[in-house]
Amino acid sequence: MVKIGVIPGDGVGPEVTAQGLAVLEAVGKLDGFRYELESFDLGGERYLATGEVLPEAAIGKLRGCRVILLGAVGHPGVPPGVLEKGILLKLRFDFQQYINLRPVHLYPGVQTPIRDKGPDDIDMLVVRENNEDLYVGAGGFTRKGTPEEVAIQTSVNTRPGVERCVRFAFEQARKRAEAGAFRGLSKAARDAGLTRQVTLVAKTNVLTFAHDLWMRTFEEVGRDYPDIQRDYQHVDACCMRMVVSPEKYDVIVTTNMFGDIITDLGAVLQGGMGLAASGNLNPEGTAPSMFEPVHGSAPDIAGKGIANPLASILSVAMMFDHLKVPAAADRIRRAVARVLEQPGPRTPDLGGKASTAEVGRAVVEALH
Ligand code: NAI
Ligand code: MG
Repeated sequence: MVKIGVIPGDGVGPEVTAQGLAVLEAVGKLDGFRYELESFDLGGERYLATGEVLPEAAIGKLRGCRVILLGAVGHPGVPPGVLEKGILLKLRFDFQQYINLRPVHLYPGVQTPIRDKGPDDIDMLVVRENNEDLYVGAGGFTRKGTPEEVAIQTSVNTRPGVERCVRFAFEQARKRAEAGAFRGLSKAARDAGLTRQVTLVAKTNVLTFAHDLWMRTFEEVGRDYPDIQRDYQHVDACCMRMVVSPEKYDVIVTTNMFGDIITDLGAVLQGGMGLAASGNLNPEGTAPSMFEPVHGSAPDIAGKGIANPLASILSVAMMFDHLKVPAAADRIRRAVARVLEQPGPRTPDLGGKASTAEVGRAVVEALH
């Protein structure tokens, strides 16, 4: 029996999570996967009502779960950062979810805004470091509120933190071996026997301390993977190349800050925020991993029943990958592909008129 914690959260979070759970329930029956849910009332409403963000008791109970499914947090009535830092970052750090895995995959039948590019061109895996960098909350103000105010936010990068992330990326490249091998490789590289590629995305020309550490670690760890090409791009050039030639990317490994930014661009390449799924992984399983759509609480469309549930549903598939139940993960992805391939129901972000629930229902039907 696998215990799954659920944090529906704010805005569209509960709306899309309901569909993710409907898919989970159907897959559970089809594939004989036995689980138990524990729901956690966390987010903006609770904070406004009680002043509590993430009580210790909730952390303790979440720690007892094998995995966590999260909708989104973020509330227009709560100052920015309170919930995002207090819930999302706190869980990522406390549970040592040091990898944020974000596949960028264009499904057939989905429009990408990139002209002349299709599903064969857009299929990359972004491995974002998830426990360090500018997100650790190191910094402070002096002379706050005065004309001479100073604000400092420190990027923290440790050798072990960088190394485990980089190694994870090379391992993922090996795992991708069959599907779409040779992506981004020149003929010379193929002839030399290379099969995969990992691109480090950083800014070594300006961040000459932190990203020097990243580069050296990347080179050293990469020597353990002679079958994998090591590629490097500055983050600004990466943004350009993701648009102009996305087919050049296979696996990308990058810092917390840059990974946050480039995966929103990645989401657009794959058809929008409504399709981008992610996993916050504790690869060793010493604490729960957490799966969530890349998008936020989308207050502009919350409560209307029109949010796209596919990102949440695909996050459930990533949960099954992590739990090593590949049959269930594949079943979900095949069902999503089937729904997107045909002129079936689509939410407005994909040009359709269907509701969140109608799309969820279509996926459940396509599971069989
Ligand atoms: P957002 O991702 O919530 O929305 C960006 C745009 O994408 C909006 O136009 C929204 O309508 C659209 N969108 C998002 N999800 C969609 C879906 N499922 N279907 C169709 N359209 C969708 O980002 P935004 O507006 O910057 O942030 C809103 C709140 O969410 C903020 O409080 C922010 O801090 C928080 N946030 C939370 C995240 C999380 O919980 N993981 C991640 C990103 C933002
Ligand atoms: Mg983001």
